[in-house]
Amino acid sequence: MEKIIDEKQQGNTLVMNEKEGNSRKLYIESYGCQMNFSDSEIVASILTKEGFNTTQQLEEADLVLINTCSIREKAEQTVRKRLEKFNAVKRINPNMKVGVLGCMAERLKSKFLEEEKIVDMVVGPDAYKDLPNLLQEIDEGRNAVNVILSKEETYGDVAPVRLNSNGVSAFVSITRGCDNMCTFCVVPFTRGRERSRDPQSIIEEINELWERGYKEVTLLGQNVDSYLWYGGGLKKDFEKATEIQKATSVNFAGLLELAAQAQPKMRFRFSTSNPQDMTLDVIETMAKYPNICKYIHLPVQSGSNRILKEMNRLHTREEYFELIDNIRKIIPDCAISHDMITGFPTETEEDHQDTLSLMEYVKYDFGFMFAYSERPGTMAARKMEDDVPEEVKKRRLTEIINLQQKHGLLRTREHLGRTEEVLIEGSSKKSDEYWMGRNTQNTVVVFPKEHYKIGDFVNVKINDCTAATLIGEAVGYSDNN
Ligand code: SAH
Ligand code: F3S
Repeated sequence: MEKIIDEKQQGNTLVMNEKEGNSRKLYIESYGCQMNFSDSEIVASILTKEGFNTTQQLEEADLVLINTCSIREKAEQTVRKRLEKFNAVKRINPNMKVGVLGCMAERLKSKFLEEEKIVDMVVGPDAYKDLPNLLQEIDEGRNAVNVILSKEETYGDVAPVRLNSNGVSAFVSITRGCDNMCTFCVVPFTRGRERSRDPQSIIEEINELWERGYKEVTLLGQNVDSYLWYGGGLKKDFEKATEIQKATSVNFAGLLELAAQAQPKMRFRFSTSNPQDMTLDVIETMAKYPNICKYIHLPVQSGSNRILKEMNRLHTREEYFELIDNIRKIIPDCAISHDMITGFPTETEEDHQDTLSLMEYVKYDFGFMFAYSERPGTMAARKMEDDVPEEVKKRRLTEIINLQQKHGLLRTREHLGRTEEVLIEGSSKKSDEYWMGRNTQNTVVVFPKEHYKIGDFVNVKINDCTAATLIGEAVGYSDNN
């Protein structure tokens, strides 16, 4: 993944979790979006009850699970490479079983067993509760597959085991699936229809995290703004709900408010917002509660109206600008980040210029930028030819990355001289003498450790910056401690 954010957690989750009496060893690795990392915590929780403790040593594992991503071809290649490595380890430890979880499992289904002989088990994102049965099958020497997508499953009743945690920030998933059907995107096929989790179980999880010392929660969904609880069921069936269900339903702004009120000292973030579904009440709720962070990840994918239409993004460039203007009016110092795709089929130089000019208008704080990767089964793959040459995609990608770099620096410079509240997450990657944390805008801030510790809210005077990192010095605890 091309990214320009320093010190952002990415890559593998190597996990630690121990329950006395458990004798089997689980090694689990996660790839892709935050939802996968969060799902792995649910899987670890289910398997703890089945007698597994997690290990960081691949070689000693009885069960190896890999939670996979299908979003781009490169993501799938990474997983295939890891399977080769697992194969080598299995030669030394022949009793080791290997299971594939997540989006690639859902996309390839039992084909996985044919294509990758190392794989014993294939489990889709909605089938994790079936793991105990599937494990029994593989223990008895059969291969096992469950890739059934669900209309109800939200894992609201599974208390996740926090893996690879800094003990400060945690993810809490609030919706599963996506109904948006962007033509380039494989997610609706691999994660199924959109459904929301019971707000009560979300708030309970948040309260429990607070009790255990966590200070920041990121609410997760493919499209959080379309969160809608009316007693269970698919988002698309809301029309059929009873009048009482409709009257007592909770939307995303309502959920944010519930969370912010339940734990007034906890910081809340959320990801991801979709421009077509983001409503003003969400922005107004953010402005109302100081513990909701001033940061919105608002993927746009392209600046060209024609391409947006081809992508089935249901808004125009002008509507996007209107949303940006509203955000800036209601929350003047809100940080905004984006996802952008270059080289979508039929993208011309003019479309690309539209993307650059959109970026100029917004001047995003951060961005995640990708070259289009055709995904089998999507509308774009079925109806359009992947006709932008690879070198053109790459050149356009470089241009938008360079522009983002420039805007990133412009944005970080705005913080110079200010004193900002930072939540300490851990040591800086570059120096053990510095803490790393984030301000409300999600910008990484590093500063000398002094007597402060992980989990403290500290006021930091910002003295210097790069395009993605602020450098400062602590001036005292903030009121939030
Ligand atoms: N709503 C989701 C989006 C998941 S995909 C979320 O929670 O973030 C993340 C990003 O990957 C998308 O916003 C898009 O920019 C990129 N992406 C998705 N499909 C892609 C494809 N086929 N080729 C290149 N990039 C893609
Ligand atoms: Fe994918 Fe679009 Fe949903 S990018 S996850 S189909 S909002």
